[in-house]
Amino acid sequence: MADEKKYVLAIDQGTTSSRAIVFDHSGQIVETGQLEHEQIFPKAGWVEHDPLEIWKNVREVVGLALTRANLTYHDIAAVGITNQRETTVVWDKTTGEPVYNAIVWQDTRTDKIVNELGGSEGQDKYKAKVGLPLATYFSGPKVKWILDNVEGARERAEAGDLLFGNTDSWVVWNMTGGKDGGVHVTDVTNASRTMLMDLATLSWDEGIAKDMGIPLSMLPEIRSSSEVYGEGRQGGMVPGIPIAGILGDQQAATFGQACFEVGMAKNTYGTGNFMLLNTGTEPVPSKNGLLTTVAYKIGDAPAVYALEGSIAVTGSLVQWLRDNIGIISNAAEIEDLAKTVDDNGGAYFVPAFSGLFAPYWKSDARGALVGLTRYVNKGHIARAVLEATAFQTREVNDAMTADSGVALTELKVDGGMIANETLMQFQADILGVDVVRPKVAETTALGAAYAAGIAVGFWQGEQDVIDNWAEDKRWTPSMDEGDRERTYRLWKKAVTRTFDWVD
Ligand code: G3P
Repeated sequence: MADEKKYVLAIDQGTTSSRAIVFDHSGQIVETGQLEHEQIFPKAGWVEHDPLEIWKNVREVVGLALTRANLTYHDIAAVGITNQRETTVVWDKTTGEPVYNAIVWQDTRTDKIVNELGGSEGQDKYKAKVGLPLATYFSGPKVKWILDNVEGARERAEAGDLLFGNTDSWVVWNMTGGKDGGVHVTDVTNASRTMLMDLATLSWDEGIAKDMGIPLSMLPEIRSSSEVYGEGRQGGMVPGIPIAGILGDQQAATFGQACFEVGMAKNTYGTGNFMLLNTGTEPVPSKNGLLTTVAYKIGDAPAVYALEGSIAVTGSLVQWLRDNIGIISNAAEIEDLAKTVDDNGGAYFVPAFSGLFAPYWKSDARGALVGLTRYVNKGHIARAVLEATAFQTREVNDAMTADSGVALTELKVDGGMIANETLMQFQADILGVDVVRPKVAETTALGAAYAAGIAVGFWQGEQDVIDNWAEDKRWTPSMDEGDRERTYRLWKKAVTRTFDWVD
């Protein structure tokens, strides 16, 4: 390294919180700052965030992390951004004010819009181009909803006054100057979640944007995941420091887990679960309900693609149990409660709160708790809640095996829920393969740090990521195969009870 800068800063703008993490050259965490933001539920199925609160929190957490590490921005070589994907912000480029709250990826308000867009061609109308089925999950239809429903928004958008972005674009635009010259960019991974990017050309598809009534002038410039996009604005929290990495959070975790070879996969246990399988430099279409997405693109190197199994509700089911039902008072208690029983007592909880994502893509499914008898107690319910995460992961894994023809030999895991040993053991049991946790489990932020650090020469490339990765713990399957298949069969039956619920 030519200078004295010994650290890289990653900002992880997630679904429930924003975090800033300082990493050193060995990829170890030096310090962290974290703040939660409000989850706004205006109606059943609607989920919003306040973009201004998010931006305020991002600034604060950067300050917290640097202060706790006893560092200043002078010590930082580059900043990487990772983010909750699909969540949609539309703002006025002259005032910097959002025209509406951010519509979160979990929000189902666009179900009519996606049906109408599909028309007689149905859900897979754009799939060959964008790798995604028409579903409420993705950004394009959310932008359309804002332009259709916020007074004056369409006229302002057509006049070139409004900008769209996921929270990566929103944060980078603000960090680099906002209304006084902020750069309006995104990276290929985030763009691949909008339904508006052609996967082969990595550019916006004018025809799809037109179908959705979205002016091209609103869309950010699509860049690679690792290059200098701009610098922190003067007077800001990191003045003059290069902003040099952007990756959607699941792709960042794939990078941070060093899944660089075809056939390598990781599974992140966050608000939802997201398993990504590296498929190499050509996009592979899915026949089994997975998404085709961009995994990463480092500077001028070719883009690397992935198959993704997205599950909407896993960790957020535990939060729901805590906040809405109150049978636990913190997330860690779920494991204690689950351990009071030996099994689920026959209960299965299918958390189709945002419809069902992979491999079903059913926007009209809603949650169900089935198999109840007088025998079932809250311990069984806690177990059913944890098991739901593992069963959904098995479904996604089966789809990956069917699509790729290659069975997984082990699964690299990360995210908040991997602290739960009961869940990790059950996951290994239900998959029938080893589950492996790395020493630095904050792989999402780490992946964004690596992307930024590689862009400025702080790290040399992927080999540094591989060298820094180390195994912490491994769970090995111990369940009898007959039991495994029996309980999984019952889960599949429970899933069918959630279908076709919305009138
Ligand atoms: O696609 C949604 C995903 O990016 C959200 O991840 O970790 O913020 O729940 P997380």
